[in-house]
Amino acid sequence: MNVIIRPDEQSVTDTAYLFVKDRMNRKRYRVLGLPTGGTPLRLYRALVEGHQRGDIDFADVHTFNLDEYIGLEGDHPQSYRHFMQVNLFDHINIAADNIHFLSGLPTDIEDECEAYEEAIVELGGIKLQILGIGRTGHIGFNEPTSSLASRTRDKTLTRETVEDNRRFFDSDEEVPRWALTMGVGTIMEAREILLIATGRSKADAVAAMVEGPVTAMCTASALQMHPRTTVILDEAAAAKLDEDEYYR
Ligand code: PGA
Repeated sequence: MNVIIRPDEQSVTDTAYLFVKDRMNRKRYRVLGLPTGGTPLRLYRALVEGHQRGDIDFADVHTFNLDEYIGLEGDHPQSYRHFMQVNLFDHINIAADNIHFLSGLPTDIEDECEAYEEAIVELGGIKLQILGIGRTGHIGFNEPTSSLASRTRDKTLTRETVEDNRRFFDSDEEVPRWALTMGVGTIMEAREILLIATGRSKADAVAAMVEGPVTAMCTASALQMHPRTTVILDEAAAAKLDEDEYYR
């Protein structure tokens, strides 16, 4: 695991942007795995600006998002599909057919998840998977006790994750309790992984991911077994790492 500690959120974004731009300018990195949430917002803004400057071209890029809430239509304002449209896809030259998303209202959950896995394989696999990390140590919605070999499927969200997502909804009752998510095993097949985390609330999860044992209680710790993972942190998210001097 390559751990990079930057002074603040802006420099995390700047470093992550340069990393993604570098990979996207290599021909074989045309299939991206993307996260939602508060953390990637600045990176998406930077990618849009990079695109507007002519530094990044999405013409033949395919994207696969990690997860989607069960029960929300793709045009629901709190759906992840909508989040991606508004924050990234509307502002770049990606072909609509190249945007791959799990449906929040699948007719059959198993078929939906299997088809998603197949679509990834058909395109030769995800080359760069971008991730955030939840307070529970989740990647995607792979909450604690998820199998580290899990594939795309439905998951129940933990109380902490529901609380964290509450800010985007008008009332408690509206926050979805279930989601479809790529599995840990699915994520681990990406050629390269970039995880970004900022803020004090992530410090425990980050320490467990980087320095803790590999355990289903922190699914991000599975990344210790991935051959090409880079983690970019701000000082606050890195605050509980014991070996921070070494990473620096
Ligand atoms: P956040 O979510 O970026 O909104 O903190 C991260 C995650 O849950 O993966």
